Amino acid sequence: MKGIILAGGSGTRLHPLTSVRSKQLLPIFDKPLIYHPLTTLISLGLNDILIISNPNQINDFKFLLGDGLNFGINLSYEIQERPNGIAEALIIGESFLGNDKCALILGDNIFISDKLNSSQITDFKSGAKIFTIAVNDPERYGVVKIIENKVMDIVEKPNEFISNSAVTGLYFYDSEVSSICKTLSPSERNELEITDLNKVYLKNESLEVFQLEDNDVWMDAGTFGSLLDAGNYISALQKRAGRLYGSPELAAYNQGFLTKKHIKDLIKNSPKNSYYCLLEKIII
Ligand code: DAU
Repeated sequence: MKGIILAGGSGTRLHPLTSVRSKQLLPIFDKPLIYHPLTTLISLGLNDILIISNPNQINDFKFLLGDGLNFGINLSYEIQERPNGIAEALIIGESFLGNDKCALILGDNIFISDKLNSSQITDFKSGAKIFTIAVNDPERYGVVKIIENKVMDIVEKPNEFISNSAVTGLYFYDSEVSSICKTLSPSERNELEITDLNKVYLKNESLEVFQLEDNDVWMDAGTFGSLLDAGNYISALQKRAGRLYGSPELAAYNQGFLTKKHIKDLIKNSPKNSYYCLLEKIII
């Protein structure tokens, strides 16, 4: 199974912060936002990951993350010419995916959950799998309608209340996904909608829904408020518990992709005040 991080978009809701910098490179306390979805994919056990971003921002990601060697993984890059929709990522990623299955994650999504581990990948055989969580403001998201424990529908940003169960920005798909995306038509907002893709799998009775629970955390840092909240939250958790969140290096070490020697070298070559000090305390 391979991973894709979609890190493009126009970032209009965060203007002018995003006028010269990609949203996914903005800081969440002590790390760039994209470290969080990258950490999630590595924690799932994935080590072959494609990053997709805009033509004018892709080089910033390459500069920051390189070929993945520092994280013990393989990173590739592709361009999305325009924000034509989340599902387009799976068409852009077609040759990268080949015949493999795929985990797609949005570059502005932050997860803190020990349920997102490699057993999710082992358990996933075919079809699609989405991850939902209860939220206060379902009108901002894709939302699932569940009747008697069965998902009946998925509605993108519903005007009327359907449920409080939001579809998060982490999706698993089988190797059919690129072909299915090519059959989708653009929505009213002229995008290939991820919700339309998920509805195809739902119609084919091959959509699995994994419900995250109250003790799991999901944030999308897409607005000024949520960006600030996410930074404060990570800062408070790290200070309070001495744990590290959104560290691809720690996730890679836990997966066996990096050795203690790699981590020691990374720390040695990093400025003293960066989050690598915390990494040192945890690992060494
Ligand atoms: O965050 C989860 C939600 O993400 C889901 O509940 C919704 O079903 C899904 O449509 C999406 O909703 P958003 O309105 O938050 O999507 P947004 O357009 O903000 O894009 C999400 C991220 O994907 C954002 O970081 C930018 C990036 N993106 C988006 C589009 C449309 C791209 O890189 N390319 C694109 O073409």
